[in-house]
Amino acid sequence: MLLLLTLLLISDGVGTATCSTVPGNSTDMLWLLDFKRAITNDPRQALSSWNASTPHCKWEGVNCCLTHPGRVTVLNLTEQGLSGSISPSLGNLTFLETLGLSRNSFTGKIPPLGRLHRLQQLLLSKNSLQGIIPATLTNCSNLNSLDLSGNSLTGEIPLNIGLLSNLSFLQLARNNITGTIPPSLKNISQLALINLADNQLMGSIPDEIGQFPSLLGLLLSGNMLSGRIPTTVLNQSYLQILDVSINMIGNTLPSNFGDTLPSLTLLCLDYNRFEGHIPASLGNTSGLSTLDLLYNKLTGQVPSSLGRLGKLNYLNLQTNQLVAKDIQSWEFVDALSNCRYLQVLALGENQLQGAIPSSIGNLSSKLQGLGLDANDLSGTVPTNMGNLSGLTVLDLCRNKLNGSIEGWVGKLENLTVLVLDGNKFTGPVPNSIGNLDKLTDIYLANNEFEGPIPPGMGNLKSISSRLPPRAPKNCALGASRR
Ligand SMILES: *[C@@H]1O[C@H](CO)[C@@H](O)[C@H](O)[C@H]1NC(C)=O
Ligand SMILES: *[C@@H]1O[C@H](CO)[C@@H](O)[C@H](O)[C@H]1NC(C)=O
Ligand SMILES: *[C@@H]1O[C@H](CO)[C@@H](O)[C@H](O)[C@H]1NC(C)=O
Ligand SMILES: *[C@@H]1O[C@H](CO)[C@@H](O)[C@H](O)[C@H]1NC(C)=O
Ligand SMILES: *[C@@H]1O[C@H](CO)[C@@H](O)[C@H](O)[C@H]1NC(C)=O
Ligand SMILES: *[C@@H]1O[C@H](CO)[C@@H](O)[C@H](O)[C@H]1NC(C)=O
Ligand SMILES: *[C@@H]1O[C@H](CO)[C@@H](O)[C@H](O)[C@H]1NC(C)=O
Ligand SMILES: *[C@@H]1O[C@H](CO)[C@@H](O)[C@H](O)[C@H]1NC(C)=O
Ligand SMILES: *[C@@H]1O[C@H](CO)[C@@H](O)[C@H](O)[C@H]1NC(C)=O
Ligand SMILES: *[C@@H]1O[C@H](CO)[C@@H](O)[C@H](O)[C@H]1NC(C)=O
Ligand SMILES: *[C@@H]1O[C@H](CO)[C@@H](O)[C@H](O)[C@H]1NC(C)=O
Ligand SMILES: *[C@@H]1O[C@H](CO)[C@@H](O)[C@H](O)[C@H]1NC(C)=O
Repeated sequence: MLLLLTLLLISDGVGTATCSTVPGNSTDMLWLLDFKRAITNDPRQALSSWNASTPHCKWEGVNCCLTHPGRVTVLNLTEQGLSGSISPSLGNLTFLETLGLSRNSFTGKIPPLGRLHRLQQLLLSKNSLQGIIPATLTNCSNLNSLDLSGNSLTGEIPLNIGLLSNLSFLQLARNNITGTIPPSLKNISQLALINLADNQLMGSIPDEIGQFPSLLGLLLSGNMLSGRIPTTVLNQSYLQILDVSINMIGNTLPSNFGDTLPSLTLLCLDYNRFEGHIPASLGNTSGLSTLDLLYNKLTGQVPSSLGRLGKLNYLNLQTNQLVAKDIQSWEFVDALSNCRYLQVLALGENQLQGAIPSSIGNLSSKLQGLGLDANDLSGTVPTNMGNLSGLTVLDLCRNKLNGSIEGWVGKLENLTVLVLDGNKFTGPVPNSIGNLDKLTDIYLANNEFEGPIPPGMGNLKSISSRLPPRAPKNCALGASRR
């Protein structure tokens, strides 16, 4: 997340021209006035300075070039609440290096900008632009940053996008772009960020996409991609973010996965068809903070090497076919106690059997979400579950856990969601449950509890009947999509 912010800041902020404001008269002013005329709403009066009594180089958001008086190099009206269309007259500002209109309410099409050979940054994200990405954009051969994310663009990525050989940041996320990922991308050797998430891309990830020596982020989640992750991608020693979640990608992860991607901080492969074992080599990606493998077909044990991930914050292995059945295969829980920043551990809907190891109580004091639901757990819950006093969500439902919950439940004072239904818990529901004054959802049904409802339950002021929220997911740019 931090990295992406940094990347976005870089791509938002570069301005290389030696420019100043020069009074005078040029046709650039006329093109700017055309642009102003196409704006239908300017709620913050951003364009109030755009009048003939002020030199256009001093207008809000405008910068001109020192060496060519009157020629506009920067038009930056980021987040000004502007509505209307983007006038094609901007295509005549041939000295333009930066066009930044992100976070407004522009509608209509992206105008023809193919004559802007000096353009380095085209930032139009978070508007309501429609239509296709014009193929003529590939004429802007100096483009370094292209951000069209968060519009309603349709059609395909221009096949010859590879002509933008200076591109470092390519962001087309959250549109309705169809077709495949063009192999010509391989031409753009210094790409640092490729974000095509949340579109309708099909086909496989082209092999060529991996051959970018400086690639830091590859975000392809929320498409309809199939096939495998190309072996070339698994060789990006600088890659920090790999998010291909919510696609139809499936293959066995190579055993040296973690060794070939040593810089990963965020790995999201959730909602795909990955199978085979979780590679133990993931323990070598020492900077990893988010590992999301939710909803795949992974088998075998959870490798204890994950305990070497000292920065791990979010570990979601839910809904796979992972097995734990003896001391050795449960060792990963002991190992994870080294992950002092772990906030979410989701292991639900797997094939974990037997007793919950008492080392569960040694997990990070920062742990907020713990899911062990829908496994085959039996025996009593170790009382040092009560050590996990930071827990806000605890889900143990649909197992065969038995015994009393008295020894631990009342200590979890920060719980908002407690899900224990579908077990064999016995004894009274302890009065200490009344200590849990932040509880909003409690599920106790289908157990063997006995005795009266404890008076302490009366303290639960905010009980609601909604379903328990799933633990929060912090995959990059993913928060908005579920
Ligand atoms: C555009 O202006 C905003 C502030 O209004 C600034 O944060 C941003 O860096 C500028 N972008 C470019 C590309 O100059
Ligand atoms: C710009 O020049 C044209 C003629 O060259 C003139 O008609 C116009 O008034 C000038 N505008 C300004 C703002 O100086
Ligand atoms: C023109 O812009 C200046 C600021 O640059 C402003 O003070 C002036 O009121 C504007 N004139 C008109 C007629 O809007
Ligand atoms: C661009 O400039 C040319 C003249 O140089 C003019 O004929 C054309 O109409 C302008 N295009 C737009 C969209 O304003
Ligand atoms: C592309 O650039 C060339 C000059 O290099 C120019 O002649 C041509 O008109 C441009 N194409 C478009 C569609 O703007
Ligand atoms: C690309 O960028 C480099 C340096 O950043 C520059 O020298 C070159 O002219 C740019 N344009 C193209 C088309 O390569
Ligand atoms: C994509 O298309 C679907 C169906 O036409 C529409 O409901 C959805 O809002 C579109 N999304 C975007 C980001 O434009
Ligand atoms: C790839 O780049 C070469 C030159 O570097 C260029 O001739 C070729 O047209 C480009 N191909 C594509 C598909 O962009
Ligand atoms: C990975 O990189 C190494 C050296 O950088 C190279 O020898 C190897 O062929 C690459 N493997 C793949 C699958 O690209
Ligand atoms: C990577 O992890 C594996 C398994 O945990 C281990 O055997 C191997 O030595 C590690 N490689 C490096 C380079 O640390
Ligand atoms: C918890 O950690 C402590 C210190 O590392 C260790 O002595 C103890 O055995 C652990 N408890 C369990 C139940 O694993
Ligand atoms: C319980 O929640 C509060 C407020 O969110 C927090 O300040 C406190 O540290 C939490 N307690 C524990 C033991 O984590």
